[in-house]
Amino acid sequence: MAILIDENKKVIVQGITGREGQARTRLMLDYGTKVVGGVTPGKGGSEVFGLPVFNSCSEAVATLGGVDISVLFVPAQGLKDAALDAINAGIKLIVLVADRVPVWDAMEIAAAARARGASFVGPNTLGIASPGKAVVGMIGGRAESAREWFKPPLPGGTGVGIISRSGGMSSSTAYYLGQAGVRISSIVHIGGDAVLGLRIPEVAKMFEADPATDAIVVFGEIGGSQEEELADLIASKVITKPVAAYIGGKAAKAGTRFSHAGAIIEGNRGTHAGKVAALRGAGATVVDAFGDLPNAVASLLRARGSRSLMTEAEIKAVWTTAITKIEPNKVAVRGHNIADLMGRVSFGAAVYLILSGRLPDERTGRLLDAILVSSIDHGATPPSCLAARTVASTGASLSQSVAAGILSINRHHGGAIEDCARYLSSLLERASQQRRTLDEVAAEEVTRIKSTGDRISGFGHRIHTKDPRTVRLFELAAEAGLTDAPTTHIGAARAVERAFAAIGKPLPINVDGAIGAILADLGLDPRVFNGIFMIARTPGLVAHVTEEQTRERPMRRIDPVNHAYDGPFAG
Ligand SMILES: CC(C)(COP(=O)(O)OP(=O)(O)OC[C@H]1O[C@@H](n2cnc3c(N)ncnc32)[C@H](O)[C@@H]1OP(=O)(O)O)[C@@H](O)C(=O)NCCC(=O)NCCS
Repeated sequence: MAILIDENKKVIVQGITGREGQARTRLMLDYGTKVVGGVTPGKGGSEVFGLPVFNSCSEAVATLGGVDISVLFVPAQGLKDAALDAINAGIKLIVLVADRVPVWDAMEIAAAARARGASFVGPNTLGIASPGKAVVGMIGGRAESAREWFKPPLPGGTGVGIISRSGGMSSSTAYYLGQAGVRISSIVHIGGDAVLGLRIPEVAKMFEADPATDAIVVFGEIGGSQEEELADLIASKVITKPVAAYIGGKAAKAGTRFSHAGAIIEGNRGTHAGKVAALRGAGATVVDAFGDLPNAVASLLRARGSRSLMTEAEIKAVWTTAITKIEPNKVAVRGHNIADLMGRVSFGAAVYLILSGRLPDERTGRLLDAILVSSIDHGATPPSCLAARTVASTGASLSQSVAAGILSINRHHGGAIEDCARYLSSLLERASQQRRTLDEVAAEEVTRIKSTGDRISGFGHRIHTKDPRTVRLFELAAEAGLTDAPTTHIGAARAVERAFAAIGKPLPINVDGAIGAILADLGLDPRVFNGIFMIARTPGLVAHVTEEQTRERPMRRIDPVNHAYDGPFAG
């Protein structure tokens, strides 16, 4: 878990067509944030990086089927209207990047948010990041830098939560903590203005409730009373997790503004000494120099045996892998002890686990097994088999011959799985965006295909008209809880079949198409689909290569078609 933002939250960008809006949308997408669209009044119907642009947030929310977060790259003069648009559309978290927002506008936004049960971060915020999951706003910059700088918790593990009143220092704090081996659950730059949405106390309470956070780090500043309020929460045991803080602006004199509008000492309120004393008095660790913060946090975590602290080997590592952890006498695949998996989960379930990072339930595991079995072999004529046998006949080794077979698995052989899944996704997307039924979209497609002569991957078969593998796979998919509802890939496949039948040209989905639809409905990444076919076909290729090497003479001319079967017959 994390607070405020994660990889599943649907995000829209207001001002997506503007300079920063476009640039930051690219970076958020690169990091993995689920940006689903954007809003610029007057530019509805256009696209940015393939994402739909709407004229208003209510239009975006209705079309996209709900939105969790809106981030606004709208300049100060248009910010209030844009924020109210998001709040009135029912979006519950709004991130306001713009600086120089009039205080009165911020107050109006705050009142509207309160009335609609929404929260906002900013104005004048760099944004929020949940390392390893998503970023919103301008925090972290390029995705590669953000990945390198902000160390995420291990899966199921913990990190520290960072709350900062300074944009630049929110990234720096996370970076230096990472250098000291500290993992981060979320980073929130609350913004530097005098009137803010979520403030230090509210964010601290969110970290307190977050199981993935086991300590809170605050970059505070002079001015206001947020740090003192946090001290009260610690003293009254509302915040029980350890808090470490640095307060900037020690040298500032009363009445001076320290960089941000909110960082101003008035009379005796908001002084550096007052904040430090309040926090220390409540039991927080407060360092005098920012440079001492990383080690102070690391020692605090070490004393608690916290899992937020990286090992020496993890700190020294120059690259990371999230697949398998090897330690003396221990092997853990995607966080599961391999000895526990052995004999308990099927090979299909283990394939699902290693590719997705999630262990499937029993019926989904059985479905994966069925997919692997369905593609284990399809006789001697597919290109992969002919390639493997041809290379085997030259005297090549088993690995060379099997590799030759694998090399022939491409777009037109095995590749239909991924192509069909992507094609069905495009039909679903079109139906949703154009608010039409799947049957209408499929009928239009069939007309197009008839006139262009295009072939669609995953439909029809050169031998089978009713492929036994397809029928069985759909039975098992239904048992695993998948349906052919009009929002699913299986539903889209059925709509295409109906559209072909309606023009008197039955073209049923084939086994590759069925596998593509099922894997997509299971939520697996289409980039691994052809890999699943390779995994499934490898035993078949090993069998063919071994048979070639033991039965046939070297360098024979392999007839691609004329051969007979002399094995046992199925009952
Ligand atoms: C918010 C900010 C980044 C926008 O800058 P920008 O991208 O250069 O501005 P642009 O004018 O190019 O783009 C703004 C877009 O918002 C759009 N917009 C205006 N009102 C809108 C509304 N109500 N809803 C949605 N979009 C709106 C504009 O039409 C424009 O898009 P267009 O260029 O396609 O017409 C800038 O004004 C700013 O405040 N920068 C400082 C940010 C900062 O430092 N924050 C603190 C970090 S610590």
